[in-house]
Amino acid sequence: MKILTILILLVYNLFASNVGEMLFNGNCLACHNIKTEVSAPSMVEIRDVYLDIFPRKEDFVNFMTNWVYEPEEDTAFMPNAIDKYGLMPNLHYDQQMLEDISIYIFETDFSKID
Ligand code: HEC
Repeated sequence: MKILTILILLVYNLFASNVGEMLFNGNCLACHNIKTEVSAPSMVEIRDVYLDIFPRKEDFVNFMTNWVYEPEEDTAFMPNAIDKYGLMPNLHYDQQMLEDISIYIFETDFSKID
């Protein structure tokens, strides 16, 4: 019984992290490259800035989810990027989806992705 529970948890976690990755690739990669800055800051850069401010997963995920849901200059942490590219547009994303994506971003060391 214990083994079954562990197995279910494992499969669930695998599935959940893949969903976050898929959603990220489909919704964010168009503007945010993994390592290079093109028309918006790279994911390596954004994650570094956010991890510095929000080392706890819960805070990181909550803030990022809410900010991307409704981007605002007043609460942004990357004013230089706003000067350069303008404020990130409000793309009317689903909030639950943004939470899945934020968890994926917290858990992924983008500097190790090729
Ligand atoms: C249409 C282009 C575009 C798309 C798509 C996009 N972004 Fe952005 N994003 C930007 C730009 C430009 C900035 C830099 C200006 C700023 O900070 O507002 C930015 C900044 C950010 C920031 C930093 C905000 C700050 O200043 O504190 C986060 C976090 C972020 N994006 C997350 C995401 C996530 C997650 C997705 C996918 C769900 C996404 N973005 C999709 C253009 C985009």
